[in-house]
Amino acid sequence: MQIKKLLVNSQLERLDNRLLLSYVTSFSHAQLIINDDYSLSNDQLTKYNLLMQRVLNGEPLAYILGTKEFYSRKFQVNSHTLIPRPETELLVDEVISKAKKNAKILDLGTGSGCIAITCKLERPGLNVTAVDNYAETLLVAKSNANSLNADVNFVQSNWFEEVNQTFDIIVSNPPYIEVNDEHLDKLQFEPKHALTDFSDGLSAIKQIIYESCKYLNNNGWLMFEHGYNQAENIRQMFYNCDFTNIETIQDYANLDRITLGQFIIKD
Ligand SMILES: C[S@@+](CC[C@H](N)C(=O)[O-])C[C@H]1O[C@@H](n2cnc3c(N)ncnc32)[C@H](O)[C@@H]1O
Repeated sequence: MQIKKLLVNSQLERLDNRLLLSYVTSFSHAQLIINDDYSLSNDQLTKYNLLMQRVLNGEPLAYILGTKEFYSRKFQVNSHTLIPRPETELLVDEVISKAKKNAKILDLGTGSGCIAITCKLERPGLNVTAVDNYAETLLVAKSNANSLNADVNFVQSNWFEEVNQTFDIIVSNPPYIEVNDEHLDKLQFEPKHALTDFSDGLSAIKQIIYESCKYLNNNGWLMFEHGYNQAENIRQMFYNCDFTNIETIQDYANLDRITLGQFIIKD
């Protein structure tokens, strides 16, 4: 079967199909187009069909390929890490826009390390620490930092428990899906503890906001990615803890997705 036929006749979404064909043939995207009359060997075709079936059965392609692109870089992922989402790139943009040259950044719940590593690579002057509670998850994050050459300090910690410094920016994409949310069933391949707080969806965010003042420098920022319907509650928590310049930012679909606030110590 020729690549050109597989490119147009597939049950997969266009991008997934291209990524799968690249994986099976070892061709880059450009090579796929140039060599579109190449016929897959029997082995390649069998592999393509098997992997396609796994995707059609609901398994995320990123886990099958072992990688996911984030901010134009390839991050390794496995069943211990959340698959980085495009919306999270907006959170990185926000860190980069607020961070002064040598700012100290803390990424809480780093997963694949995509936020911490991208911040460090985009702004090498930053001093970046990344925390996750799970050893297997941190192994993936460290491996990504190694292969992408990012100097990030990793700490295994239950949120702030093992953190003993202060920071200019604390950023987090914590588990924020409510435990009874029907969407959780559709996300059966990703680690549950990365998706949900096993409560109302706001408990991790609340804990981080309430504890963050001990770990923020004066004028420091705290920023979260969160669910589309959580912004109002989160802004209220920021107000309750005396944050100022509280703001919510929408994602590509115009949904509330990021809320941030500044911690200014009053004289
Ligand atoms: C939504 S995922 C975000 C992963 C990554 N930052 C990203 O944006 O793709 C949440 C992460 O928080 C971690 N996590 C969950 N509970 C935690 C806790 N109590 N302390 C530290 N990290 C935790 C999970 O292991 C997971 O990696």
